[in-house]
Amino acid sequence: MSQNDVAARAVELRRLLNEHNYRYHVLTAPVITDAEYDALYHELKAIEAENPDLITPDSPTQRVGSDLQSDLPKVRHVAPVLSLGNAFSADDIRAWRDRIGRLLPDDVTLDFVVEPKFDGLTVVLTYVDGMLSLAATRGDGEVGDDVTPNARTVRTIPLRIPASPDGPSAPSRLVVRGEVLFLKRDFERLNEQMREEGLSLYVNARNTASGALKQKDARITARRPLTMYCYAVMEADGDVPATQWDTLGYLRSLGFLTADEVIRHFDDLESVIEYIQMFETRRHDLPYEIDGLVIKVNDLGTTANLGVVGKDPRGAIAYKFPAEEATTKLLDVAANVGRTGVLTPTAVLEPVFVSGVTVRQASLHNYDLIEQRDIRVGDTVVVKRSGEVIPYVVGPMAGARTGDERPITPPTACPVCGSPVQRDEGEVAYYCANPACPERVARNVEYFVSRSSMDIDGLGERGVRLLLTNGLIEDEADLFTLNGEDLLELEGFAEKKVQNLLASIQAAKDRPLQRLIGALGIRGVGNTIAGVLVEHYHSLDELAAATVEELQSIEGLGPHTAGAIVEWFANERNRKLIEKFRAAGVRLEAQPTETETASNHLEGLTFVLTGTLPNLKRDEAAALIEQHGGKVTGSVSKKTSFIVAGTDAGSKLTKAQDLGIPILGEDDLLSMVDGRS
Ligand code: IVH
Repeated sequence: MSQNDVAARAVELRRLLNEHNYRYHVLTAPVITDAEYDALYHELKAIEAENPDLITPDSPTQRVGSDLQSDLPKVRHVAPVLSLGNAFSADDIRAWRDRIGRLLPDDVTLDFVVEPKFDGLTVVLTYVDGMLSLAATRGDGEVGDDVTPNARTVRTIPLRIPASPDGPSAPSRLVVRGEVLFLKRDFERLNEQMREEGLSLYVNARNTASGALKQKDARITARRPLTMYCYAVMEADGDVPATQWDTLGYLRSLGFLTADEVIRHFDDLESVIEYIQMFETRRHDLPYEIDGLVIKVNDLGTTANLGVVGKDPRGAIAYKFPAEEATTKLLDVAANVGRTGVLTPTAVLEPVFVSGVTVRQASLHNYDLIEQRDIRVGDTVVVKRSGEVIPYVVGPMAGARTGDERPITPPTACPVCGSPVQRDEGEVAYYCANPACPERVARNVEYFVSRSSMDIDGLGERGVRLLLTNGLIEDEADLFTLNGEDLLELEGFAEKKVQNLLASIQAAKDRPLQRLIGALGIRGVGNTIAGVLVEHYHSLDELAAATVEELQSIEGLGPHTAGAIVEWFANERNRKLIEKFRAAGVRLEAQPTETETASNHLEGLTFVLTGTLPNLKRDEAAALIEQHGGKVTGSVSKKTSFIVAGTDAGSKLTKAQDLGIPILGEDDLLSMVDGRS
């Protein structure tokens, strides 16, 4: 390339990067993948490194990344919150080792620590005299957002260190760095809840974690089950370990969460590389998302001597896994009918190879998202597949449009039964409102027999469809009157299998009422809401007689769900279903234990209540704790697990603080009761 071409390419790259930055951060509708953005960014960085005169102040490489939120208080960090350089191959890692080797005396031998590169957001925690006194986001690296009240709701952040009396005593001041994220199962559960409530699903765990931590109202953060992993000491008054390996052990002994399932120590770089390559196939087995691994020089003195380039310390490097995204053409959009009738748009794609498999179909989440992201049939779209997760369409590459693309509109009739499609005001989902829709019935029966519902063993999707197409059942209640002779006629149903199935069906007649209600396929009512309903209604008949007003007054139940419940019981087909259950001897009343103990979420925990809580009276809070398996005592001792404090809390609170007992607010208690912590 001539010098002119290089200069022109730099201009072009700057324009592209600035545009994609804007699309990503302002419009939140990127049109290229992160990997493609990284490639452009690195190309520009390389040109600028060779030709420093081409650097302009508006170059995206000169931007110090900032995620500051305007309405939170600001705090200045004790030291710059640094970032990491990237490596994409084994050779990049070797080149990094050679680069730092040249800066070190010849006789230095290096050993390394490998850690996960968490896909979360950096948080810096300050402890003064062992008490959490400040939590701040990275912000622009110099100044961050003060998120202390929010951080206090994150259970893996110790409010006091050492968290256990066996831990080392904490220095008078300790600043710790780590990453806040959603564990995969917590994120899935959150979305399950959103789905039950008919709300928009969260797409990106990292962005959701960031949004949750930067809430102005900490009560909202408390309802989001965040987790924090720690990996560095940024500042300390007093002695702290001299190596990264010992730092991780030290943090662990103080009560911080460390990623022990990944962290390893190696004496040579080739073993590091071997580990990293092995890890690529294991990355999805972890309980959290990682986008790579971080390799750190173990000796922290050496790391300090190596210094930084830009905002990247030389003593560590991030190895990024290959992208799990690819681009392909969106050929069509099909609507899948779910058990509650909700229509889920599914992308029909030109086959594309993504992280090891050929993808032909992908989820489009919901029609609102299609509209928000302006996805059209004929678009070139980004498809992401990570691990076992169903591949999904991230968004269109609007730049690749030819003008022939067609907007996608939600269907007006159910693609299976032709009934008109409905949508409740304020809800995201479009749904087929015909409970007899053959696809809905099939899905409902599949759900009804599944392990988390009535747990009827020996009937999978294929078996259910076989029963339906052969006319042996018309709905889930018919399962309870199946006979062996009919079943033996079916393909693949041998004597033993039939016996087991019939025994399992017999056993399912006595499942707790909560399971039955959760299995019915009422929109918005999964297992959690079913549990809440059983606390108020002790039989299916009592629930069937409930009014919308009554249901709406129950904590946790919105108007849509209340309406859906009443509508479900008013439906002729569903009434018949209940009568068939009754005739077949299915339990329609709560078991006595169901109403006594609502859950065992607080089992083994002892609580002390003090002060005035915002909503609950003292005896209500105590009853709640006991219903969920916890114990309430009057005085604070070492055996107290938590103290629940309201306003005007007195000496009990002080004593709890002295003993390092975690202090909860009413909201914290409620989220523990819900099993969200
Ligand atoms: S160390 C001087 N370790 O990745 C310390 N960072 O792409 C530099 N990150 O801004 C950071 N996991 O937010 C470090 N085990 C880990 C990490 C990690 C994730 C994040 C961190 C950093 C970003 C750089």
